Amino acid sequence: MSATTPLIVTEIKDGILRVEIRRPDKKNALTGPMYAVLADAFEAAERDPRVRVVLIHGQPGMFTAGNDLADFLEHPPINDDPPPPVFRFLEAFRTLTKPFVAAVSGAAVGIGTTMLLHCDLVYAGESAKFQLPFVNLGLCPEAASSLLLPALAGHARAAEILLLGEPFGAAKAVEIGLVNAVLPEASVLDHAMAQARKLAAQPAASVRLTKQLMKHAQATLVEQTMREEGRHFKARLISPESKEAFTAFFEKRKPDFSRFN
Ligand code: COA
Repeated sequence: MSATTPLIVTEIKDGILRVEIRRPDKKNALTGPMYAVLADAFEAAERDPRVRVVLIHGQPGMFTAGNDLADFLEHPPINDDPPPPVFRFLEAFRTLTKPFVAAVSGAAVGIGTTMLLHCDLVYAGESAKFQLPFVNLGLCPEAASSLLLPALAGHARAAEILLLGEPFGAAKAVEIGLVNAVLPEASVLDHAMAQARKLAAQPAASVRLTKQLMKHAQATLVEQTMREEGRHFKARLISPESKEAFTAFFEKRKPDFSRFN
C-alpha cells in the first residue's frame, strides 16, 4: 500500500455518507490522523444538507482493531489544546443528529464497539467479534460506554464485558441489543446500505427529531459521562499498567500486572 493510499475513504451518494476504514495491514487500527479525517467527515456530514444518513464499515472480516496501540504509546492523546482528534471524533458521533448506521464484520475492538452504542442501526456478519479491552490495557471505558452498556445489557453482563474484556460474538451482541441482526458475511454491507437507503428516503426532519427525542432523556448524562471518562482515560494512558499492556502487545506476550496495585 502506498503512502498516499487513503486510510479513511468517504463517499456521498444517494443521501448517504459512506465511511470506510481501510488500513488492512493493521486490522484497521485507528491513528490520530485517521481520527482527524473521521472527525472532519462526521462534522461536515452534520452540516451538509446532501447527507441524510452516515454509514461506517470496514472490509469483510475486519471492522477495526480500535485505537492504534503504537500511537497510544508514542503519541498519547492527553493534551486538550487543541482537542486530540480521537476526542473530536467521539464528540462528532455523540452529537450527530442524522442517523448513524454500522456494518460490522470481523473484529470490532475498543472504539470499534463503543461507537456502536451511538449508532441507530447496526448489522453484523457472522464473524463479528466485539471486545472492550480497556481494563485489560490498564485504561477505563470511553465514549460513555460505562453508562450506555449497563443501560443496554444490565450491570452483570456489562461488568463481564468491561471488567474481563473478553471478546463476544454476534449472537450475544444481538441478545444484549447492541446489534439489530446477524447476516451472512457477504451481505452485511449490502444489507446495511439497503437499510440506510430506506432511512434516507424517510422525511429527514422527522428522522432527526425522532432520534433526538429517543436520546433526549440521557443526552446530558452521556455528555457528562464522556467528559468524566475522558479525564480518567487520559491519566490512565500514561499509567505504568497501560505502558506494560501496550508493550506486551507488540512483544507478543501476556502483560504482567502483578507489580501494580
Ligand atoms: N494497534 C496497532 N497495531 C495493531 C492493532 C492495534 N490496535 N491491532 C492489530 N495491529 C497490528 C498487529 O500488530 C499486526 O501487525 P504486524 O503484522 O506488523 O505484526 C497486525 O495488525 C495484525 O494483527 P494480529 O494481532 O496479528 O491479527 P489477529 O487477526 O491475530 O488479531 C485482533 C486481530 C484485532 C484481535 C488483535 O490484533 C488485537 O487484539 N489487537 C489489539 C486490539 C486493541 O487492544 N485495541 C485497542 C483498544 S482500546
